[in-house]
This record gives sequence, C-alpha cells and structure tokens, in this order.
Amino acid sequence: MDDEVLDAGSQKDAIPFTAKLTAFHRMAETERKNPLFKDHYAKMLIGDMTKYSEEHRYSISRDGYTIARTYYIDEYLLKPWAKFHDESQIVLLGAGLDARAYRFRPLEQNSHIIFELDFPVTIQYKTKILKDEIPLCNLVRIPTDISKHQWVSQLFNNGFSKDIPSFWIMEGLLYYVPQDASIFLLKTISDLSTHSELFADVCVPPIAGLKFGPFTRHFKWGIEKEDIHGFFQHAGWNVTCAYAEEFDQGRDVGQKGMIFVHGHKSEQNNTSVSDLVRSDREYDLSRQQLQARAIILLKKSPKEIEYVLSQYRKNPEDGIEEYHCFIKEIYRNIKQFTTLFRDISDIARISPRILADPFLKREQISNWTKEELDSHIYGFLIAILQFLYCTANNLDGSEYANSSLHDLSTRNESDKLTMLSSIISFINSELK
Ligand SMILES: C[S@@+](CC[C@H](N)C(=O)[O-])C[C@H]1O[C@@H](n2cnc3c(N)ncnc32)[C@H](O)[C@@H]1O
Repeated sequence: MDDEVLDAGSQKDAIPFTAKLTAFHRMAETERKNPLFKDHYAKMLIGDMTKYSEEHRYSISRDGYTIARTYYIDEYLLKPWAKFHDESQIVLLGAGLDARAYRFRPLEQNSHIIFELDFPVTIQYKTKILKDEIPLCNLVRIPTDISKHQWVSQLFNNGFSKDIPSFWIMEGLLYYVPQDASIFLLKTISDLSTHSELFADVCVPPIAGLKFGPFTRHFKWGIEKEDIHGFFQHAGWNVTCAYAEEFDQGRDVGQKGMIFVHGHKSEQNNTSVSDLVRSDREYDLSRQQLQARAIILLKKSPKEIEYVLSQYRKNPEDGIEEYHCFIKEIYRNIKQFTTLFRDISDIARISPRILADPFLKREQISNWTKEELDSHIYGFLIAILQFLYCTANNLDGSEYANSSLHDLSTRNESDKLTMLSSIISFINSELK
C-alpha cells in the first residue's frame, strides 16, 4: 500500500499517512467504552481506511502510545495552561488531523488562539472537511513547510504575537525532522517566545534505528534520556522528561524508549510554572534540609489556611490578600522542593495545579463568578497541602497515588471546600 510508505517529514502532495493513522487511533479511542478522551472529528478526517485496517490489523491496534500522549498533553499540560492564562497562543507544529480546536473544551475559557501548521495539502484537506464545524477558540491554519524558515513570517503575518504566552506543541513531529533542523526549530521557537512552554516527544536511538512499522520506519534520529536536558537547553529550553510508560494510563505504549518532553522558557520575575522547575544543580540545599523545611511548612500551613479562609468568608477582598501573603512564602519554597522530584510529570501526578500560576490578577478575576474564585483559591490551597505532604514524607507521584491522602482527596472531588477541610483534619491528626 503506497501511503504506508509516505514520509511525514517530506511528503508534500498527499495527506501524510502518519497523520491519518494518529487520527484513526483517536477515533478508535472515541469509540471505546470508557475513553480517555473523545475526538468526534477524527472519523470525519481519516477518510476511508477500511482497506488499510483490514490489511494492517497490528498497526491499527497499536494505539496505546498515541492515546497516552494525547491524554498527557490534554490533561497535564494544556488543561492548566488554558485555565490559567487569560490570553494565549497554542501553536501546533505538524498539526496533522488534530482537532483540539474543536474538541478540547478548556479552550472555551479565557482567550486562546490555535495556530495549526502543516504541509499545504494537509491544511487544505482539513479546511475542506471541517468547513461547517465551529471551533471553540480562534483558529488560524498555516500551510507551510516547517523545515523552511518562511513559516516564521507566515506565523507573524497571521496574527502571532511575541508578547502573548505561547504553548508550542510538537506531538509526533521531532523525530521526523532531521536532528539539525530540529535544533534550529527549537531555537527559533525559543526566540519567538515570551513566557512560553513546549511539548515534544522524542525517542531513544535504538527506536530510531528500527526502521519498520508505519511510524518508526520514518524516524530520523533519537536521543538518550539523560542527554535530553542538555540538548533542549542548548536550543533555549529548560525541560523535564518522562518515559511514555510512566503515563500509559493502563495502555500498552509499545516499545520502551518513547519520551515525553515538557519545556519552558523562563522569564525573570515570573511566578508561573516556568519558574518552578529548575535543575537540581541550581540549589545547594540537601534533600534532608529541604524535607525538614517542608515539614515545618506543613505543620504551620493548616492554621494559616484556616485564617485565610476565615478572612475570605468575611470579606473576599481581604481573603484574597491573605491568600496571596500565604502563597508567596510557600511558592518561594515550592520552587526548591520541585528539585526533589524526578521530573515535572512526577509532580503533576500529585497535583498538576501546583505547576500552574497561583496568583490572581485583578483584571483576570473581575469577570469571575464567586464559584470560580472559590474553586481557584480552594484548589490551590489543596494542591499546596498535597504537595507539601508528599515533600515532607518523601513520597513520589506513584507513592502518593497509593496514599490515604490521595484516597481522601478523590472522595470529595465535587466539593473543594469539604475536601480542603478533610485534608486539613487529616494532616493535623497525622502530625499529632
Ligand atoms: C505523526 S503526524 C502527527 C500529527 C498531529 N500532531 C497529531 O498528533 O495528530 C506528523 C505531522 O507532522 C507534519 N509534518 C512533518 N514534517 C513537516 C514539515 N516539515 N512541515 C510541516 N508539517 C510537517 C506531517 O504532515 C504530519 O501531519
């Protein structure tokens, strides 16, 4: 079958097969009993793949990796991003048949714009198929070749702004782009970024050397996990990474050695996620010293939180001020505590929220309902206690998932205030 051999990195006159197969996997997920996500657009976009699926049952069924990857991006990265940025740009490099602009509900909050970049043939096809559908946010499609520099001027001509935070998504892209072009691409997007983050997936060299299967046969390069930090840093990004199987959601992600990379370009005086994750070497406090500090903070936090809550109940404005005083101190320490964890994904397992920006801006909350404000404040206070508890007790993400605190937290998911109160009681009784 011809299109099985299409090369996602070079084919310009047919829809890249890897894009179709990825969308096929999303369609299959949507039709599963308890799907991790639903993408109702995938079916419209894949066209007729009956013949291929009959002939290639194996590659069709090997969807665990793409599903786990999409879920990871949606849940761990884009959900908090969309929620905590008043305004943002999400740039899908090698967008393929991705339908996030239509299906990903968190985009309805705040003001986001999605830029989809792919070869002209993909963009034209997608535009035609989805012409009657309404996106959830602003959507701009850019037909281009990312390996040529012209895409940058196209992006600016289509409304991209350097001053707005950007999330760069390279989902299933980098290993198709030659390594030197990948470095150039990463440097370019770092230059275009102000307070920005990225996702990319990469693979270890033995996978790139496999040269078989509809995806891996086209992989051009690979990198060992321990070299990833330096590689991305050289290109202007601070990153953390995790093997895909750590986020498999119970799916078979196949070959060991596929890696999720989450990066940020940090700006000075920025209190968001970008500043939270640092290399261990930046701090010389020992693990024991940091843990001891976490214990002290854990001991005094319940009382301080109770005070914040009492002020907030009396008068939300005063309460917000108290909330800010409390989190300012905590977040100074949280930056250091994050170095005790394996990587950003491990922290996200405890609470993705801890990686988001906890500070409230006046203009941001002016349109919020009281419920939204409550949810922000209670949510961050819960995340702080969960995170301090894990740091103080030296629990990683998986150990936390098996802890009584986790059980307690999932029991009261719908009512954050009740959850917060039970967490406070739990911590108080543990510390007695
Ligand atoms: C494996 S697909 C993934 C698509 C999409 N990100 C998803 O997850 O569904 C890779 C995509 O990258 C695109 N791509 C690869 N090299 C490219 C290039 N040089 N310029 C533009 N698009 C490119 C391909 O056309 C294809 O749509």
